[in-house]
Amino acid sequence: METITRHPPIVAKVPHILHGGDYNPDQWIKWKDTIWKEDMRLAKRSGVNSLSVGIFSWVALEPEEGVYRFEWLDEVMDMLAENGITAVLATPSGARPAWMSRKYPEVLRVNARRERNLHGERHNHCLSSPVYREKTLAINTRLAERYGSHPALGVWHISNEYGGECHCPLCQERFRTYIRNRYGSLDAVNEAWWTSCWSHIYTDWSQIESPSPLGEINTLGLNLDWKRFTTEQFVDFYLHEIKPLKKLTPAVPCTTNLMGTYPGVDYPRLAEVLDVASWDSYPQWTGTERDTEIACWTAFCHDLTRGLKGKPFMLMESSPSATNWRPVAKLHRPNVHMLQSMLAVAHGADTVQYFQFRKSRGASEKFHGAVVDHEGTENTRVFQDVAAVGERLKKLDGVVGTTTPAKAAIIYDWNIRWALDDIQGMLQSKTDYASTVVAHYAALRAQGINVDVIDSRRPLDGYSLVAAPMLYMLRPGVAESLGAFVKQGGTFAATYATGYVNESDLCFLGGFPGPLKEVLGIWCEEIDALYPEDRNAIQWNGARYEVRDLCELIHTRGAETLGVYGGDFYAGRPALTRNRYGEGRAYFIAARTDQDFLNAFYHTLIDEARIPRILKNVKTPPGVSVSSRTDGKIEYVFLMNVSPQTVTVDAGALGAKSLEPYETWITQIP
Ligand code: GLA
Ligand code: ZN
Repeated sequence: METITRHPPIVAKVPHILHGGDYNPDQWIKWKDTIWKEDMRLAKRSGVNSLSVGIFSWVALEPEEGVYRFEWLDEVMDMLAENGITAVLATPSGARPAWMSRKYPEVLRVNARRERNLHGERHNHCLSSPVYREKTLAINTRLAERYGSHPALGVWHISNEYGGECHCPLCQERFRTYIRNRYGSLDAVNEAWWTSCWSHIYTDWSQIESPSPLGEINTLGLNLDWKRFTTEQFVDFYLHEIKPLKKLTPAVPCTTNLMGTYPGVDYPRLAEVLDVASWDSYPQWTGTERDTEIACWTAFCHDLTRGLKGKPFMLMESSPSATNWRPVAKLHRPNVHMLQSMLAVAHGADTVQYFQFRKSRGASEKFHGAVVDHEGTENTRVFQDVAAVGERLKKLDGVVGTTTPAKAAIIYDWNIRWALDDIQGMLQSKTDYASTVVAHYAALRAQGINVDVIDSRRPLDGYSLVAAPMLYMLRPGVAESLGAFVKQGGTFAATYATGYVNESDLCFLGGFPGPLKEVLGIWCEEIDALYPEDRNAIQWNGARYEVRDLCELIHTRGAETLGVYGGDFYAGRPALTRNRYGEGRAYFIAARTDQDFLNAFYHTLIDEARIPRILKNVKTPPGVSVSSRTDGKIEYVFLMNVSPQTVTVDAGALGAKSLEPYETWITQIP
């Protein structure tokens, strides 16, 4: 297989990193002669080359049913083209006009308590509603007809932050159809959901309903399938939305803006139908040492979003300063805006976009960070920060389309998150799947390597090391693929709570970790949950590492014991094991450890798996994040101080470099 080293730019005719963001000129229609003109001047001054328009413009485009007003958007699109600005043009389905809710109440969502919404807010439509679908199709078709060949058009931005769920009768009907197609017979449904528990066997399809606090919430297989169905609703609605766009503008890429690890939609599934992945990133910077952790979570989400399509993604939204909906709307400290933007590029973003270009004058977002403040000029600190990013991005044309070379991957799977968040057992409120995966990710990244974040069903070719913390659910093919990976020489790291259930949340019989028992060479007999104040320990390599929360009691079945428990009635029993399987090795960590253990552990594994560090022979100090992108010839190395302290990095052949708080240094090798 040929490895791609450089992807085409997201907008074929724009070989630059896109810089810009959400722009709401419809909020300023009355003042267009002054404000719009000034916006164009300020856009150019801040190095903005792209603006996203029309995201919440439905009522401005269709003020009455079937009466369309495109004149203002014609003017905006022309103005963008004249100013060399690429339009990320949205379909307006993120928020609907009031006339529609009034005339067709079926478009209003129904919550799990079976209460129908009143009109208001956004992102709250019934995706099954034939009326809603018809209206969306009509306006999307007109947008594609009108702007399909407009020189400003670069990307279609489908709707906005798809999320939530609808429990109306129309959705219930579609859910039943989904379940019927998935299982074929009621008997298969009853078996998959184990409804013989508590006399919950369904005897007619019509008895199946979505989970509700007023009804069924303890049939965990039903809960899982409801989440899968909800994802399919979004996939289906997205495909419905893009039908006219694909027909009339097949070459224009389509995306919808995602939200990192938002649990409501299985993003790897939704991403199958996107041309390019994009997401909205709002790190909650604190100005303290905690920012190292915040940067790590943010980087994780960047890597996750990149992994969805395995190519550069769009940072569709970020705040140039305060984020109004955070409990503390803290300002970006000096260098933070640059850091946040470069962090995205470093992890594979080919765009740096904001919410929003000009601050809304009223309503809920009037105090959200924006490129242009109420004061209205370029003479603000935030504007200057944005302009500095614009300047720097202009020098990074070479980065566009480059790939992120990663020999290590970590698995993050929505299905596992759903099952663990819903678990009745272990630690109901602290299974902490997402933060556990991020803790392992942090330890890998601390070794100065790139890491891919992938769904459990992604092929593993090309990786030397795969980490899969809490691989609780083994979906079809996953155990086989991991087995083949290890057999062929791969290094695999697994933990407690692995291989308990199949895709329907039914426990594997014959011992955990189910179909991974042979690969890992162990049998997990029991799992102990600890109270918050309880601690145990793993003794490994002459050191003692504290463990908390969850401790699995395992037996070796071919694996060698590397570390043992330090306390309790299972003191001395295996807590860390390694199994040689085929040409490779499979490690098992039986308990939840702190970062000190994970750092030491992955240091050893990366050495063993011979994964080269981005900066050879360099130990990246805490607070420094290093990542790279390459076109196969030049490697762009990003060295970022993600802490509020000055740090000095001994960057090997590149010499010593002192980095100010939050400073980003970009260099090229060779
Ligand atoms: C979300 C939305 C935007 C805006 C921002 C504010 O990401 O997509 O419309 O409300 O939040 O942070
Ligand atoms: Zn509905």
